[in-house]
Amino acid sequence: MKTFDVVVIGGGPGGYIAAIRAAQLGLSVACIDEAKGADGKPALGGTCTNVGCIPSKALLQSSENYEQAGHHFADHGVKVKGLELDLGAMLKRKDKVVKQNNEGIAYLFKKNRVSFFHGRGSFSKIEGEKIEIKVQDEALVARNVIIATGSNPRALPGADFDEKLTLSNTGALEIPEVPKRLGVIGAGVIGLEMGSVWRRLGSQVTILEALPNFLGAADEQIAKEAGKLFAKQGLKMEFGVAITAVKKSSKSVSIQYNASDKSSKTLEVDRLIVSIGRIANTTGLNAEAIGLKLERGFVAVDEDCRTSVANVWAIGDVVRGPMLAHKAEEEGVAVAERIAGQKPHVNLNTIPWVIYTSPEIAWVGKTEQQLKAEGVEYRAGTFPFSANARARALGDTSGLVKFVADKKTDEILGVHIIGPMASELISEAVVAMEFRGAAEDIGMICHAHPSLSEALKDAALAVDKRALNI
Ligand code: FAD
Ligand code: NAI
Repeated sequence: MKTFDVVVIGGGPGGYIAAIRAAQLGLSVACIDEAKGADGKPALGGTCTNVGCIPSKALLQSSENYEQAGHHFADHGVKVKGLELDLGAMLKRKDKVVKQNNEGIAYLFKKNRVSFFHGRGSFSKIEGEKIEIKVQDEALVARNVIIATGSNPRALPGADFDEKLTLSNTGALEIPEVPKRLGVIGAGVIGLEMGSVWRRLGSQVTILEALPNFLGAADEQIAKEAGKLFAKQGLKMEFGVAITAVKKSSKSVSIQYNASDKSSKTLEVDRLIVSIGRIANTTGLNAEAIGLKLERGFVAVDEDCRTSVANVWAIGDVVRGPMLAHKAEEEGVAVAERIAGQKPHVNLNTIPWVIYTSPEIAWVGKTEQQLKAEGVEYRAGTFPFSANARARALGDTSGLVKFVADKKTDEILGVHIIGPMASELISEAVVAMEFRGAAEDIGMICHAHPSLSEALKDAALAVDKRALNI
């Protein structure tokens, strides 16, 4: 039996980063992951690398290039004749990007001497400080275990995923031809990103959302702006719906639902993406063997990711908190450091959110509506990209930046962006908030001209009603 200081179950962004950090700290580490690529070989990187962040961003970029060439290059005086979509090549490129990332992680494991086991890891028993885990025919003994088993897509009752007509994120990333009519249930992050991909490639996309409002987690002003821009792009969205039935024929799907005015309606589509959230994955872990406590399907953890069992930790999508790759990574690093005797801390308040639509949406910290609900006195400052010189040069002027700061101390409480490269711009706000900076701090810092980041400076100055460019 092989003994390790740390055995990580799951090789997604939480698990592989935890394994690397633990190895850097001099611990002996094994990582178990069961994912397989199309060739049956290990496909390290979890949901994020295989069927999540990476392939979706590859397709978002490719489809945006197609849309730009078809609709926006002419504004720059660039005429394109005979523009054609080669969907097969686009999907192949996406697969290649995924593979590069799979291989990159395998390389990092070798470099850091992380032992990799391919297969499903499950708990056998716990004896004192020894935790026994089975993977294929091997039995491993661990002094510490990090559970990083991620999450799976939630299916709509009565509409199981067949990945041909009814698609989870997996099928949504490999539709072999552009569907004429694409239905999406759930106007959340996947619905918006994948809906955007297929709309750009030519589908008529209709998104049905149960909640009455759009993007409830985002700042209301940003959500309102996003709703307007997406509608202008041709993304059809209906809110406050209740799905009553999903019926499949050989080539299409019929969705029956009650609309917000209670009328019953039917939507006929060629393919349906169901993106109504994800469920923590503890399948096959045999959690009972060690008496691990679960809470609403998640592995129960304290704020330092300790589970109910000594020396067993859990991180990422399988525990509470946002289901984001970088949140999983932060927890992975923190747990590895804790096992090595350090005292790290993960600040969930400074985890940024990004939606990679066009324009992109990104935020960190509190929204205006959250501050109102909490009775916090604040000041807000906004700045539109239409008044930013770089955005004009790019030809991408939609959206705005918004700062909310404490009324008395000026400490930044939240930053909300909808606009070009919001995913990159948000980092400045994360740094400022992590250092408990004030809006004035951003306003005083020199930002390169012309740059999109100047919109952050101006929005920060707008908190004190002294934006310079508007
Ligand atoms: P996972 O990435 O789910 O990895 C878990 C791994 O554990 C998997 O490989 C699984 O096969 C393996 N496993 C499970 N059980 C066992 C077992 N018993 N034995 C062995 N192996 C096991 N997040 C972002 O931050 N940015 C994005 O742009 C983004 N885009 C996304 C797009 C889509 C379409 C989806 C679906 C998700 C996206 N996410 C994004 C979310 C992100 O993918 C997850 O938050 C992240 O992957 C969670 O990481 P994790 O390590 O907790 O789990
Ligand atoms: P989500 O939670 O973002 O959105 C689900 C949406 O479906 C919600 O608006 C919800 O109200 C709606 N919904 C739920 N049940 C419904 C029903 N029966 N009928 C109609 N609507 C219904 O979940 P999504 O989009 O599935 O993504 C899962 C998670 O993956 C996200 O929460 C996020 O954590 C992660 N992700 C992150 C990305 C990023 O960071 N850019 C990209 C994609 C996914």
